[in-house]
Amino acid sequence: MVREKWLGSLFFLLVGMFANALGAFVGINIGTDVSTLPSEIDIVAILKAHQFTHVRLYDANTRLLKALAGSGIEVMVGVANEEVLGIGESPSVAAAWVNKNVAAYVPTTNITTIAVGSEVLTSIPNAASVLVSAMNYLHKALVAANLNFQVKVSTPQSMDIIPRSFPPSTANFNSSWNSTIYQLLQFLKNTNSYYMLNAYPYYGYTRGNGIFPIDYALFKPLPSVKQIVDPNTLFHYNSMFDAMVDATYYAIEASNFTGIPIVVTEAGWPWLGGAKEPDATVENAETFNNNLIRRVLNNSGPPSQPNFPINTYIYELFNEDKRSGPVSEKNWGVLFTNGSTVYPLNLGTSGRATGNSSAVFCVAKSDADPDKLQEGLNWACGQGQANCSAIQPGQPCYLPDSLVNHASYAYNNYYQRMRSVGGTCDFDGTATQTDTDPSSGSCVFAGSSNSSGRGLVSPSSLSPEVSPGSSSSNLKILRLQLLIPATFLALVFV
Ligand SMILES: *[C@@H]1O[C@H](CO)[C@@H](O)[C@H](O)[C@H]1NC(C)=O
Ligand SMILES: *[C@@H]1O[C@H](CO)[C@@H](O)[C@H](O)[C@H]1NC(C)=O
Ligand SMILES: *[C@@H]1O[C@H](CO)[C@@H](O)[C@H](O)[C@H]1NC(C)=O
Ligand SMILES: *[C@@H]1O[C@H](CO)[C@@H](O)[C@H](O)[C@H]1NC(C)=O
Ligand SMILES: *[C@@H]1O[C@H](CO)[C@@H](O)[C@H](O)[C@H]1NC(C)=O
Ligand SMILES: *[C@@H]1O[C@H](CO)[C@@H](O)[C@H](O)[C@H]1NC(C)=O
Ligand SMILES: *[C@@H]1O[C@H](CO)[C@@H](O)[C@H](O)[C@H]1NC(C)=O
Ligand SMILES: *[C@@H]1O[C@H](CO)[C@@H](O)[C@H](O)[C@H]1NC(C)=O
Ligand SMILES: *[C@@H]1O[C@H](CO)[C@@H](O)[C@H](O)[C@H]1NC(C)=O
Repeated sequence: MVREKWLGSLFFLLVGMFANALGAFVGINIGTDVSTLPSEIDIVAILKAHQFTHVRLYDANTRLLKALAGSGIEVMVGVANEEVLGIGESPSVAAAWVNKNVAAYVPTTNITTIAVGSEVLTSIPNAASVLVSAMNYLHKALVAANLNFQVKVSTPQSMDIIPRSFPPSTANFNSSWNSTIYQLLQFLKNTNSYYMLNAYPYYGYTRGNGIFPIDYALFKPLPSVKQIVDPNTLFHYNSMFDAMVDATYYAIEASNFTGIPIVVTEAGWPWLGGAKEPDATVENAETFNNNLIRRVLNNSGPPSQPNFPINTYIYELFNEDKRSGPVSEKNWGVLFTNGSTVYPLNLGTSGRATGNSSAVFCVAKSDADPDKLQEGLNWACGQGQANCSAIQPGQPCYLPDSLVNHASYAYNNYYQRMRSVGGTCDFDGTATQTDTDPSSGSCVFAGSSNSSGRGLVSPSSLSPEVSPGSSSSNLKILRLQLLIPATFLALVFV
C-alpha cells in the first residue's frame, strides 16, 4: 500500500507457507534489502526449519531459485516494476523472461506463480496501460512452454485502489482505473488465476488516528458494543483484515465479475518504529502475525465469501535494514537472519492445541500490577467466558489463594478456549506464555496433558454470543450501535 510512496522500490520476495489439512496456507515474503543476508542455502534451511511451504520472491533471483530446487517449497516469482513496461510492450521480451526465470527452473524448483510488478496502478501508474498486456504476453509464453497449467499469472494491488472500503458491501475500484480493472479481471477469470491483494491493517489503523480500536486491527475479540457491522449486509467483521478482503470481493462483484479468488500477497506488522510510530511494537507484531496465521488457517473466507479461504503471505521474512523511510519500514521481519524468531510465532499450529509437553500455557506475570490483574481476572471470568469454577473456594485450584494464582488459572482457561479464534495471552500486559505446565495435584490447567478435555471447546460453540442471527431485534440494535463507527470508518478508509 503506502510502501511505495514512502520508499520507492518495493521488495517482496518470498514467503513460505505451510498448509493446514484443509488447504489454506500462510506463506512468507522474502525481501532482500538486508545488509547481512544469509546465503541462499541457509535461507532455504531456515524456511524449512520453520516449515514454510510457500514463498514469494520480489524478483527471480537465480541463486535463490536454484537453492529452492527440490525443497518442496512453492515459489512465487516477481516481475520487478522496472520490467513491466518492457514486457508489456513486447511479446518476445515476455517470452525471454519466462524462459530465463521460470522454464529454466521448473519442475525442480516449484514455481507456481508470476506476480507482475508490485502495486503497479498506485506506484507506477504510467505502466498501468500495459499491465494487462504484460500479463497476457507472459501467459502466452507460458502456454508456448506448456507451463500454463502449473504457473499462474497475476499482479499484487494495493488496497488504495479502492477509495472507500467500508462498509465492504459498497466498495468499488477507483473509477479512474475502469478499463484496466476490467481487463485485469477478465484476464484473471479467463486464466483461472486469482486477485492479489496487499492488505495492511497496520496502515488502516495508524492512518485512522484512533478512530478504530487497535483490537480490531489485531484480530482481538471486540466487546459487543464495538462490533464492526456492515449496515447493508449486517455481516460482522471480526478484524480489519477480513473487512479489507471482503471489500475487495465486493469491488470485484461491483465490476460484474464473480468467482475470482483473492490471495493476500502481503500482510504484516512492524515490530519497531520511530518516536511517532508507537504502534510498531514487538507485542503488537506478535499478536497480529499469530492471530493472522490462526485466522488464515481456520480456512474460512470473509463474511461474504465464507468458502474461499484467504491464503496469505506474511510480510516478511527478515528485517530489511537497508530500506529507506521511517524506522518501522525496516522492521517487519519475523525472523532474525540467524533463523530464530523475533517473537514466538506459532506457524502452522493454528488452534490445534496438542495437549502434550509442547503445549503453551498463559499465566499471570508474578510482578504484574495487582489492580490490572484483578481487572484481567474479572474480565476473563466474565466477558471472556473462562470457566472459573475451579478457583472458587473449596475447588481444586483455589489454593494458594492469591491473585496471581487465580488470574493465571483464568487467563489460561480463556486462552486455551479462545486462541484458535483470535484470543491472545496479553491481558493488558499482565499475562505471559510459558511451556511449563502450571498444573499441580488435582488442580489441572486447561491445555495440560493431564486434562481430559484439555478445557478446549470448539470455536463454533463460542460464536453465538458474538454473531448475528439469533434474533432480528438484536440485529437492529447492533446495527444502530454500529452506524456511527461505520460512518467514521467510511471516512478513514479514504
Ligand atoms: C508444485 O506445487 C503444486 C501445487 O501445490 C503441486 O501440485 C505439485 O505437485 C508441486 N510440484 C512439485 C514438483 O513438487
Ligand atoms: C482515483 O485515482 C486517481 C488517479 O490516481 C486519483 O487522482 C483520485 O484521487 C482517486 N480517487 C479517489 C476517490 O481516491
Ligand atoms: C467507470 O465505470 C462506472 C460504471 O460503469 C461509470 O459510472 C464511470 O463513469 C466510469 N468512469 C470512467 C472514468 O470511465
Ligand atoms: C454491471 O452490470 C450492471 C447491470 O447490467 C450495469 O448496470 C453496471 O454498469 C455494470 N457495472 C460495470 C462496472 O460494468
Ligand atoms: C474463522 O475465522 C472467522 C473470521 O475471524 C470466524 O468468523 C470464524 O468463526 C472462524 N471459524 C473457526 C472455525 O474458527
Ligand atoms: C539470533 O539473533 C538475535 C538478534 O541478533 C539474537 O537476539 C538471538 O539471541 C540470536 N539467536 C541465536 C540462537 O543465536
Ligand atoms: C507433541 O505434539 C507434537 C505435535 O503433534 C509432536 O510433534 C511431538 O512429538 C509431541 N511431543 C510429545 C512429547 O509427545
Ligand atoms: C467448568 O470446569 C469444571 C471443572 O473445573 C467442570 O466440572 C465443569 O463442567 C466446567 N463447566 C463448563 C461449563 O465447562
Ligand atoms: C500428570 O499425571 C501424572 C500421572 O497421574 C502425574 O505423575 C503428574 O505429576 C501429573 N502432572 C501434572 C502437571 O499434574
